[in-house]
Order: sequence, then structure tokens, then C-alpha cells
Amino acid sequence: MTHTEAETALTVRVDLPAGASTIGYDIVIGAGILHTLGALLTAHAPAPHYGMVSDARVAGLYGDRVTAAVRSTGAQVDLVRFPGGERSKTRETWAALTDALLGHGLGRDGCLIALGGGVTTDLAGFVAATFMRGIPCVQVPTSLLAQIDASIGGKTGVDTPAGKNLVGAFLHPRLVVIDPLVLATLPDAELRSGLAEAVKHAAIADAEYLDLILRDAPRLLEREVHALTRVIVRSVRIKAAVVARDPAELGERATLNFGHTIAHAVERVTAYAVPHGFAVAMGMVVEARLGELMGLTPRGTADRIRAALSALGLPVGLPADLTADAILAAAATDKKARAGRVRFALLAEPGRAARAPHGGWTFDAAPDLVRAALTRASL
Ligand SMILES: NC(=O)c1ccc[n+]([C@@H]2O[C@H](COP(=O)([O-])OP(=O)(O)OC[C@H]3O[C@@H](n4cnc5c(N)ncnc54)[C@H](O)[C@@H]3O)[C@@H](O)[C@H]2O)c1
Ligand SMILES: [Zn+2]
Repeated sequence: MTHTEAETALTVRVDLPAGASTIGYDIVIGAGILHTLGALLTAHAPAPHYGMVSDARVAGLYGDRVTAAVRSTGAQVDLVRFPGGERSKTRETWAALTDALLGHGLGRDGCLIALGGGVTTDLAGFVAATFMRGIPCVQVPTSLLAQIDASIGGKTGVDTPAGKNLVGAFLHPRLVVIDPLVLATLPDAELRSGLAEAVKHAAIADAEYLDLILRDAPRLLEREVHALTRVIVRSVRIKAAVVARDPAELGERATLNFGHTIAHAVERVTAYAVPHGFAVAMGMVVEARLGELMGLTPRGTADRIRAALSALGLPVGLPADLTADAILAAAATDKKARAGRVRFALLAEPGRAARAPHGGWTFDAAPDLVRAALTRASL
């Protein structure tokens, strides 16, 4: 490890309350930090044998380099790959990866490294959670979405034909290593999808961060490393703080679903043709307007969020061929809807999630108001 690299790295600690499966973990962020992965593993997750899971694309781009960094610990390293994409996030891939790792002789004293986007971090996390009843997992997220969202918080799992993320486990990682330099190769739509989640973090937790994103939008789209690093650090701090206060997702973590009730409905109605982050962008505008219509959110909030999203080249209106009724119907059949009642995480103001009267973090909304919010958002 060189001094420069060590000095530019920044650590965000996730402290977990007593009773969680681990006392907490470090998230280490720094441009070029992947070169120091060996030293980080020795310090945080020593093991005689590391399994590494990656999709074919990320393995092709970074597999050799990261394998060499891990091998510098003196441990055995085995990289197993799977075909990328959400369609691979299945029990079948979980089984194939598990069998491959067993074939390499990974044991109970081994450690699993997830190198990739959110599909990889979810899948590998679930493999680690179940491998010989659970081995430690180190997350090395390579998409912006995985760096600021999927790799933090311990939610792992796979999709089933009945829906997304229906089978899984909580496994808090031992360590998360985030190198913004890998974003240089991320496809443009994936970068913007990740930025939508950054806007979400700002909307629920930090109004000044929302202004920063608006100001830095051109630099973020140009992938200026300092601008990206600033966003990663601020978003990671927000997500880590929410996770630390609610590790098992019993309360406040619901605020991270701002924009997502509508987003999931849009994704389902369009058979997932709309990328997740784009659907979240649309959903945040609709749900901010919904808050305004309910008298919960100050007027002008939706416009402020919309401005940041537009500056990032994200869609802020619903596709013209989607009716409010179709979206409402899809929202009512979502697995998170209870007895057909759709719940929303809403804003008290830009930069602050709203707390419900009885202490919860989600709100019921009258279908007419949701319809009105959907209609206004499509104008
Ligand atoms: N566990 C959680 O808390 C949580 C939170 C949010 C999302 N998720 C999950 O995350 C998944 C979506 O994550 P995603 O958008 O990262 O998808 P992904 O893993 O499919 O990655 C998107 C694409 O980018 C490619 N890629 C990743 N990093 C790259 C890089 N540095 N250079 C070039 N290409 C790269 C991948 O190969 C893939 O083609 C979903 O399955 C979602 O359910 C989980
Ligand atoms: Zn999301």
C-alpha cells in the first residue's frame, strides 16, 4: 500500500446494535483502493482461502487485477463467474455458484468476495449466508447502485418466478471496499440509474446534498472522479446511518423506499423495460407530489427533486402509454401492499423523510390522491 493511497481512503463505520449478527463493519472508499485490497482483507477478513463471485463482464474487466490483489495475502483465491443480468439472480445460479465453490474446496474458514453490481452483491451475499451455514462476505461493489445501495445493509437474496427478492437472508458484510475508478467502464444508463438513488438519499436526508448534486450534475455525468467520490461518500454515510439505526428493517429503513412504491409498479407494468433507477426517478416526482397533495410536504418539493433529476438526464415524467389506473392496479398487487392498501414513504420537506403519526415511516394514501399525483406527473 502506498502512502498516497492510504491517505486518500476514507472509512465509514457501520455500527450495529447488540444482538445483530456482527458488531459492525467498515466501508472503505478511495480512488485506486482496489490495489490495496490484499491489505484490507488481511486487516478485516483474514482467511486461508477466498472464493470470489463475479458476473462475466465484470470478471473480464477486473477479475485478473482483483485476483492478483487478493493473492498477495498469500491465500488461495478462486474466481467463479456467472452470466450477468437480473435474469441470473435465481436459486439456480445460487446452486451453481455454491457447487463451484465447494468444488474448489472452499471451507468453513473461507471468505467470499462479491465483485460486481447489485446482482452480484445480492447473489454472492446469499451464497455466503448459506455456505456451510454461513461464512464471512466482503463486498466489492462495481456499479454506482451497488456502491451506494445494494452492498450496504446486509440484505441478500434471489428472485423467484413469483417476484423479486422473495428468497434471501440478512448477512451484514465483514467489509465493503468501494473504488470509484471502476465506474469509468460502467454503461451510461447504469451510471444514471445509480445517480437516481443518490438523489433519493439527498431527498430523504440532506437538502444541501440535493443542491450539491444539482450543481455537480455535469461533472457527475462526465465521471469526474472527485465529483463521483463526493456523491459516494455522502450517500454511503446516509445509507449506513439508516441501516445502523434499523439493521433488521423494522422501521426507519422504509424511508429508503421513497419513490419506490410507484417505481416498482412502473417496472411491473412495463415488464421491467424501464431500468430501475429511471423508474425511481419517475416515482420520486410522483410521490413528492403525492406528499404535497396530502398536505404533508411543502409545495415546490417535487419541482426541486425534478430539477436535480433532469440535470442528471433522468426521466421525470411517466411514459405516455402508461395510465394512472394501470400503475395503481400494479401497486395494489405488490407484495409490500398489505390487504390491497398501498403504502408510501414520503417527505416532510426536501432533505427529511416524514414520520407517520403513530411512529411508523410509511403512509396510506387515498387512491384519488395517488391518481391525481400520477396524472400531474405525466403532464
Ligand atoms: N440488497 C439491497 O439492499 C439492494 C438494494 C438495491 C438494489 N439491489 C439489487 O441490485 C440489483 C441491481 O444492481 P445493478 O444495477 O448494479 O445491476 P447489475 O449487477 O446487473 O449491474 C448492472 C450492469 O453493469 C455491469 N457492471 C457492473 N459494474 C461494472 C463496471 N464497473 N464496469 C462495467 N460494467 C459493470 C454489470 O455487468 C451489469 O451488466 C437488483 O437485483 C436489485 O434488487 C439490492
Ligand atoms: Zn432502488
